[in-house]
Amino acid sequence: MAFVVTENCIKCKFTDCVDVCPVDCFHVGPNFLVIDPDECIDCTLCEPECPANAIFSEDEVPEGQEIFIQLNADLAKQWPVITEVQKPLPEAEEWNGKEGKIEFLER
Ligand code: SF4
Ligand code: F3S
Repeated sequence: MAFVVTENCIKCKFTDCVDVCPVDCFHVGPNFLVIDPDECIDCTLCEPECPANAIFSEDEVPEGQEIFIQLNADLAKQWPVITEVQKPLPEAEEWNGKEGKIEFLER
């Protein structure tokens, strides 16, 4: 089991999550973060830190977002680790909560 970053992170990327992860398992892409399921120790610390409520335990991923479980695993292999909080994307507040953001995922 691992935690999973889901759709509402896209185009927000608040990065508060990376500050609390004890095992540095977040990886960063242009407009989205993912969790490496092989590194995540299920500590739960990141979940309440996300202002976009985008992080879920693998068994609690909302209906329709199951694709993000595999996406986290795949993109974690391609993207570099992120350990320091960064500024959110410029339009993060505007995009927070919008649906259908997966089409804007940049790789
Ligand atoms: Fe890191 Fe813990 Fe979140 Fe897993 S659950 S990504 S180990 S903070
Ligand atoms: Fe994304 Fe939330 Fe982290 S928006 S970068 S999962 S704090």
